[in-house]
Amino acid sequence: MTQPVAPNITTDPAKEAAGIRAADFVTDGMTVGLGTGSTAEYAIRRLAERVREEGLRINGVPTSLKTELLARESGIPLIDINGVGHVDLTIDGADEIDTAFNMIKGGGGALLREKVVARASTLEIIVIDPAKLVNRLGERWAVPVEVVPFGWARTARALHVLGCEAKLRGPSEDRPYQTDNGNYLLDCRFPRIDNPAELEQKINAVPGVVESGLFIGLAHRLIIGHPDGRCEVRERP
Ligand code: 5RP
Repeated sequence: MTQPVAPNITTDPAKEAAGIRAADFVTDGMTVGLGTGSTAEYAIRRLAERVREEGLRINGVPTSLKTELLARESGIPLIDINGVGHVDLTIDGADEIDTAFNMIKGGGGALLREKVVARASTLEIIVIDPAKLVNRLGERWAVPVEVVPFGWARTARALHVLGCEAKLRGPSEDRPYQTDNGNYLLDCRFPRIDNPAELEQKINAVPGVVESGLFIGLAHRLIIGHPDGRCEVRERP
């Protein structure tokens, strides 16, 4: 029998409220995309609880190895994304989200799998605390870009031409952060992002780029958790 995974020692009431509320939208028989990050983790733990207590039958599609481990340890059955026609609903977090529901994701390094799963999803629910709301993308966060290790410094220079400062993620250039896919991440700080959709295309056209952390038109529903436990649910305008 699988044991429930120990909860986070430090609790964030806003993230917790959003994650738990999102789990309410999951119904029996669904294929559910399981996001990555501390807010999505609350939703995953709540889903595991529902599986155990209500006998909820779902199949999870994890967006990272970390999430896969959590889901396995919590007793959520998993399914290979190659074996499903579509994902009914995905619950994931975001680093920034604007008023049109465009997002920057990848703070946790899982942007590639998160985007593959989001694209396959009929309903993408984003769970955040209010600090993630921005008027314009890039206000606080750099755009993470996953690149192949081969020629990464050349790729960084090509991204620089697009107007950003591209920094290799990791403690040092000798020890770069590696994604679940064996790639590197360049955190690209743009002074101003006026047209995120156009920027996403430009970034993805650079040879060596695997995927960018700009998520355009992928979020359908937004759940904002507040520190007092209240939740706001917003639909994409
Ligand atoms: C991981 C992500 C996360 O969803 C994002 O970083 C938000 O994380 P958190 O909920 O911990 O603030 O994109 O790649």
